[in-house]
Amino acid sequence: MGSANRLKLGLFGANCSSGRAVTMVPERWSGSWPDCLGLAQMADRAGIEFMLPIGRWKGYGGATDYQGATLETVTWACGLLAKTERLTVFGTVHAPLIPPLIAAKEFVTVDHIGAGRFGLNLVCGWNEGEFEMFGATLRDHEARYAYAQEWLDVVKLAWSPSEDFDFAGEFFNLKGVRAKPRPFGGSRPLIMNAGASATGQAFAIRNCDALFSTISHGISFAETVRHVANVKALARQQGRKIDVYTVGVVTCRPEAREAVEYYRHCVVEHADWDAVDSILAMKNITPQTHAPDEFRRIREHQANGMGGLPLVGDPDMVARDLTQLAAAGLTGIAVSMVNYLDELPYFAAEVLPRLARSGLREKPGAI
Ligand SMILES: Cc1cc2nc3c(=O)[nH]c(=O)nc-3n(C[C@H](O)[C@H](O)[C@H](O)COP(=O)(O)O)c2cc1C
Repeated sequence: MGSANRLKLGLFGANCSSGRAVTMVPERWSGSWPDCLGLAQMADRAGIEFMLPIGRWKGYGGATDYQGATLETVTWACGLLAKTERLTVFGTVHAPLIPPLIAAKEFVTVDHIGAGRFGLNLVCGWNEGEFEMFGATLRDHEARYAYAQEWLDVVKLAWSPSEDFDFAGEFFNLKGVRAKPRPFGGSRPLIMNAGASATGQAFAIRNCDALFSTISHGISFAETVRHVANVKALARQQGRKIDVYTVGVVTCRPEAREAVEYYRHCVVEHADWDAVDSILAMKNITPQTHAPDEFRRIREHQANGMGGLPLVGDPDMVARDLTQLAAAGLTGIAVSMVNYLDELPYFAAEVLPRLARSGLREKPGAI
């Protein structure tokens, strides 16, 4: 991603109403185009490296219809890339929902518009209700990744400087494929995946430049170091190199007490609990399947940024947590905020200079 910064930073989930915070507070994120554009331009000026959208087709209900209004991610990326200078913007694409040659052509087009700054987050899907909407069947877990492998092989072939090609696989049988132009600048878009299972991680290691792994609150520094080292070692065994990123949720205020109070206000006292329960039920996490304490813990974690790592505190604390993640070997983190546009200026003014002082990032630009 276009910077030499040791710790890369991104914004996650801004294309969806409410972003990642399952909250009813009135200042929750709109997900509107003007807000997304304003945010991308602010992030670009601050030197934030990337924006990562969520591929979401159907809201989760509850009082706010959580993530009910979403902007499609590839066209969203296209607009943002046209209006920014440095940011990498990802499209998050469900491989089973779009033919690979249409996808490859869209990606190339966006990549040209962004002069090489488009990235692909390939997802296989997990939400059955969304797939039913398309009349598509959610394959069993292993088959999802087998399908994604062929899909991505076709996309990469369409991007590579070859002559016309045929493709005969289990899922695709394509004849005389011709695809021009190639991606911008003789390279190809960055590819990431966020598989959590062994199969998903192996897929990322085989095919991707970056793996996004959720590092939960309870996971120790030593476990994080082990996880990152393990993924990188598995990649090396295959002659590959992969960067590991994670996702987090920032609540940063001048006083730690204020940050904790705001966090509680949004994602405990004013959480959209019906939406949280509906998300958890889709993953078969219910009071019937989990012990009461465990269910309560997962529920609160889900309300705050869908399970991302909470980074709650004053600027020193947030910068210290981010520094720890870099020390654990992570290349970067994609964060969300209750209202990104309201909260990014303080983060940029207070946390980014601290990261610069610890040598993890260049001094931020004025926003
Ligand atoms: C950072 C991140 C972004 C993700 N984005 C999406 C998404 O936009 N849409 C989606 O359906 N799944 C998304 N996922 C789910 C993953 O693609 C994946 O299905 C999930 O982590 C479970 O892993 P598994 O497929 O290996 O079981 C995301 C996960 C993470 C951690």
